[in-house]
Amino acid sequence: MIIAVDGPAASGKGTIARALAAHYHLPHLDTGLLYRAVGVSTARAGLNPDDAAEAAASINLDDALLADPELRSEAAGALASRVSKHPAVRAALLSYQQDFARQPGGAVLDGRDIGTVIAPKAEAKLFVTAAPEVRAKRRHLEDSHADYAAILADIRARDARDSSRSAAPLRQAEDADLLDTSDLTIAAAVQRAIALVEARIRR
Ligand code: C5P
Repeated sequence: MIIAVDGPAASGKGTIARALAAHYHLPHLDTGLLYRAVGVSTARAGLNPDDAAEAAASINLDDALLADPELRSEAAGALASRVSKHPAVRAALLSYQQDFARQPGGAVLDGRDIGTVIAPKAEAKLFVTAAPEVRAKRRHLEDSHADYAAILADIRARDARDSSRSAAPLRQAEDADLLDTSDLTIAAAVQRAIALVEARIRR
């Protein structure tokens, strides 16, 4: 079974995807990490993340880079969002993600375009969202030294960039179930996600 989990930054999609993977004993791929790796290697090489050829030339998915804690930073998220608009970058990451999805038994993938582009035939698709203010508050709780207003502005900018790009924009697949986590605890959101997947696979 393939489960696609899409949604904007800090919506809870990563936590939900990990919980679904544990519940169904499936491997999990955080596809945002791949774009973060490309963004960080472009910047480290002194290349321009807004230039398609320079970003595509920096594709590096080795395990050491994917495990680098710097990839989790807000700066890496912003770099990822800049390199991810280039069709050449997206195309270069496509087979890695599709090979992961197609492994025997299936997988859980989370990202922005899993249900629309990477695995359009996924058995279950969730589009996880939350109000921008709630998402900014979650990020602020993780790092209280950061400025709330700056986090909110970054989240809004990233949403706008991810939703308006022409290559695989962030959008809910027509056959995806919407899960708004604004007013849910993590446990309640996970419970709801499992219920939605169960309803899909019973259909
Ligand atoms: O999910 P995460 O915050 O790690 O994603 C970082 C950025 O990578 C996103 O803002 C988005 O621009 C890009 N991304 C994407 N497609 C995916 C996953 C992430 O374009 N499947």
